[in-house]
Amino acid sequence: MFIDEFLKSASVLVCDDPTGSDPAFGQALEAAGISAVTSVSDLVAAQALLRNTCFDLILLDVNSAQSSALDFLAQRQLASTDSPAQPVLVVIHPNATDLRHRALTLGAVDFVERPFDIEALQLRICNALRVCQAQARERHFDEELEVRVQARTTELINATDAMVHRLGRVCEKGDVNAATHIVRVGKMAHLLAKTAGLGAERCFMIERAAPLHDVGMLCVSDDILSKAGRLSDEELAHMRCHAQMGEDLLGNHPSALVQMAASIASNHHERWDGTGYPNGLQGESIPIEGRITAICDVFDALTSKRSYKDPWSVQNAVDYLVAQAGHCFDPSLVAHFVTQLDAVEEILVRYPDTH
Ligand SMILES: [Fe+2]
Ligand SMILES: [Fe+2]
Repeated sequence: MFIDEFLKSASVLVCDDPTGSDPAFGQALEAAGISAVTSVSDLVAAQALLRNTCFDLILLDVNSAQSSALDFLAQRQLASTDSPAQPVLVVIHPNATDLRHRALTLGAVDFVERPFDIEALQLRICNALRVCQAQARERHFDEELEVRVQARTTELINATDAMVHRLGRVCEKGDVNAATHIVRVGKMAHLLAKTAGLGAERCFMIERAAPLHDVGMLCVSDDILSKAGRLSDEELAHMRCHAQMGEDLLGNHPSALVQMAASIASNHHERWDGTGYPNGLQGESIPIEGRITAICDVFDALTSKRSYKDPWSVQNAVDYLVAQAGHCFDPSLVAHFVTQLDAVEEILVRYPDTH
């Protein structure tokens, strides 16, 4: 009874012997209880039909070793690397052992032999359908799982972005344009990292880590940060501590993103010629994320309005970067930055200051 119901609901495509359709096929399927049968005797027509119609099972007559039905199987096997193919049950003549092996090797799920044994045909069709239904359920489960994982990942990224953004704003104490400054620095850092050939994952991380470059400013007193005149040597030394404090604040965390943020906080004031702080690192001993952020942070600060200065033109800021290449900045990164001025200006336009 179960087999009957199972077979009644199955849709089957029969690719018959191209030399002439075999009435035994139809009779055997009818006897097996399958009513939704579509028959073609031309494999090209079968391919065309399969492009738009989904069948539960394909019954394919393979009548000789030279049969184009074997090519048909091979093509379906190739195509199924991207999307799952419908199951194929081959029909062969008895004792065609080699043919049977070739068909199974090419992806046929099973075979039936002529003359048809109706009970064996029913059972083999049922088995093939069951296996394929189980595979389809597994695929559906995998796809659903992937969608759910993707949704959770997106949620996590959005939450991380929001937290980084809020923390970055707090770090740029007293600066009403801090929100857009840190976003622009992140976007430019991503652009420069990509142009310099860093992998997609590091570019993704640097965009999120660079906005925290001044997280250590949280430890600097407001009196120093808001002082209008020149800082004394002592105050300057305290203010410069923000780099080391930023690294300490972010701490030694296993997350690659937090590690990168700590590295940027520590290294964004190091200079290519070794005269920067806090460690006086030189050249490529300064981690590349620090060298990248240094360029983007200075460029954005120069082209932004501050309480003590008008914004520089892009050209003047670029001239400054070029003049400082090899002194403050990594010369090859400055060269990469200069090739991306259109994209940099797009970032400036897209994330403008509000005051
Ligand atoms: Fe800084
Ligand atoms: Fe900054």
